[in-house]
Amino acid sequence: MHKTIEPKIFYFGTPVVLISTLNENGTPNLAPMSSAWWLNQSCMLGMSENSQTVTNLIRERECVLNLPSAALVCSVDKLALTTGKRHILEEKRNMGYEYVEDKFNRANLTAGFAQLVKAPVVNECLVQLEAIVKNIHSFDEPSAIKAIEMKIIKTHIDESILVKGKKNYIDPEKWKPLIMNFCDFFSLGGKIHPSRLAKPFISQYDND
Ligand SMILES: Cc1cc2nc3c(=O)[nH]c(=O)nc-3n(C[C@H](O)[C@H](O)[C@H](O)COP(=O)(O)O)c2cc1C
Repeated sequence: MHKTIEPKIFYFGTPVVLISTLNENGTPNLAPMSSAWWLNQSCMLGMSENSQTVTNLIRERECVLNLPSAALVCSVDKLALTTGKRHILEEKRNMGYEYVEDKFNRANLTAGFAQLVKAPVVNECLVQLEAIVKNIHSFDEPSAIKAIEMKIIKTHIDESILVKGKKNYIDPEKWKPLIMNFCDFFSLGGKIHPSRLAKPFISQYDND
């Protein structure tokens, strides 16, 4: 029996991304987000233009998309309700948001050098994707949300989650993304069934 409801959010479970960007004064900002999807070498980010991250992306046109594993949940949660924007909108202030100058320190995370972009990588994240802004789209509703199309230009993967003996494959059995499911954090369970798509997909890139 289905019921017709009017939910406030449709966060059906997506991986968390920690976006590192550079502020105007050259210091780094770090922000958790989870409205992201991936296709080929691109990623679409859904983020409010009231965030420091979007301000930085519009100016710098680049960032690092750091993917935290489930083990980093406490660090990610320390970044909740923080912003790198000194002036906080009333709506956000009422929610309890506070300005934090050094978000790496707040989250007990450390910054390292990226290769092609000026924003830092998060050393503790097993996946670090250097990316550049390709397009910024508006949403067709009265909202501050932007859909930001990113192109991944350099990929750093911790060797602990790579398929043994293969250079370019991440092992999904070893990668445990942190998942935002509605407003709580989850991990993934184990593999439940082989996929019929996997074989033709992988043999297409067999020499990689
Ligand atoms: C787990 C998690 C997921 C979030 N996902 C999003 C998101 O997808 N889009 C968004 O605009 N804000 C999201 N937020 C809220 C941002 O983190 C918030 O806007 C924050 O102020 C951004 O930091 P900044 O202002 O320093 O850029 C999320 C927060 C948390 C804790």
